[in-house]
Amino acid sequence: MDTSFPNISRRRFLQRCATLAAMTGLPLWFITQREAEAAETVPMPSPNDRPGIALVGCGGMGKGDAKNASRFGEIVAVCDVDRTHAEIAAKMFTVDGKVPKIYSDFRKVMADPDVHIVVNATPDHWHTLVNIAAARAKKDVYGEKPLTLTIDEGRRLVKIVHENGIVLQTGTQQRSDPRFRLACELVRNERIGKLVRANVWLPAGLRDGPFASSPVPDGLDWDFWQGQAPAFDYVKQRCHGTFRFWYDYSGGTMTDWGAHHNDIAYWAIGQLAPHEIEGTPLSQPIPGGYTTFADYKVKYTYADGVELNIATTQDDTIYGVHRNPKGQPNGIKFEGTNGWIWVNRDGISASDPSILTAPLPEDAIRLYESNNHMGNFFDCVRSRKLPICDVETGHRSATMCHLGAISMRTGKKLKWDAAMERFVGWHAHKANAYVSREMRKPYDYSFVG
Ligand SMILES: NC(=O)c1ccc[n+]([C@@H]2O[C@H](COP(=O)([O-])OP(=O)(O)OC[C@H]3O[C@@H](n4cnc5c(N)ncnc54)[C@H](O)[C@@H]3O)[C@@H](O)[C@H]2O)c1
Repeated sequence: MDTSFPNISRRRFLQRCATLAAMTGLPLWFITQREAEAAETVPMPSPNDRPGIALVGCGGMGKGDAKNASRFGEIVAVCDVDRTHAEIAAKMFTVDGKVPKIYSDFRKVMADPDVHIVVNATPDHWHTLVNIAAARAKKDVYGEKPLTLTIDEGRRLVKIVHENGIVLQTGTQQRSDPRFRLACELVRNERIGKLVRANVWLPAGLRDGPFASSPVPDGLDWDFWQGQAPAFDYVKQRCHGTFRFWYDYSGGTMTDWGAHHNDIAYWAIGQLAPHEIEGTPLSQPIPGGYTTFADYKVKYTYADGVELNIATTQDDTIYGVHRNPKGQPNGIKFEGTNGWIWVNRDGISASDPSILTAPLPEDAIRLYESNNHMGNFFDCVRSRKLPICDVETGHRSATMCHLGAISMRTGKKLKWDAAMERFVGWHAHKANAYVSREMRKPYDYSFVG
């Protein structure tokens, strides 16, 4: 590999790689290759070439995503159905006295010619309509994970994104973390022999309730917030942050953390989808409380016999923070005929250190390389290439999570036809009813044209 860059000597290059290897725990061969390739990425835009960005959904993640995106463009607009959240974000992204425009209806954002890019960090039940509206307005999208609320939404979105030629990056940033890519490349290249199974541990969800309704807080448009979901009196726990523990708006930790770890298993296994799914809830929701299963296990079987076992762990908080250092952390373990690899956000390890340290041969299978998820998105905005987690990948990855949730909700072992994107065989009728949902009017597809 040529490491002779115009502005960095080879010695300094190797020193930098050695420091990075020591800091990250990644093998030196992998770092060297990564750094060399990174030098070939699309250069940063000039200060005069910074696109206008709108943040739609100004909650916890939205503000973080927008801060990240602001390295590549200007935050010119913020939009939220909660006025307080929008105002906080507008203040946060005011630069040199220039206050971003504030919107409450994202359709107006799409009509704003100053907006070139949309960062969509609404709750899951709003992802698809916001993304469709942006695609139709020819605005590129950084859209939070899980890409969709249902499998049917994903298929529709893929079509609309392709028809309109926009760039869409799904917010599954673990794909741009070299430790996860290394694990997937090693598995794909059979460094641990034939893959037998992948075991994924996700933080257990919240099991709580019953909850009482209360007056709608000032500034929140509760009807708009609920959108396509059935209408309820305002319940604080249904709204900001904890919406993810209600099937009306999300899918529990299966779609929340699963959108990250199941996605890595999907990347490493390299097959479109399992053909059999068997989900088992291990605790039941409390009536009047959160509706998603907090504790569960799901077994996926692939056509070639590879297994993917997903299980929850109570040893981590819902934020993935280890509360029991000796317990089971969230993460992914790949088991092959010749060893295993473990990977999570803390690091990567293997049954034998040489599994990680021996370089892969020149002709090894290589996966899409990105070392900065937001940066990759903006690179692709300029190059018009597919980002690392493009719409089809984001859709298939979300499908993995939806399949598990549907199996748990139906209480059945299910068969999936990945080409048709339908359940087949026994219980197909019951399961296919979960592939799409009835959307409450006016917040159905007609809401965005
Ligand atoms: N990639 C990651 O690691 C990561 C981490 C956390 C959250 N997320 C994802 O980000 C999304 C948001 O999660 P959060 O924790 O920030 O939630 P949050 O509840 O803190 O924020 C969501 C915001 O969206 C607003 N909103 C709701 N409907 C809207 C609409 N129609 N138009 C405009 N604004 C609307 C809400 O009022 C709220 O301010 C979720 O899909 C979640 O899965 C991703």
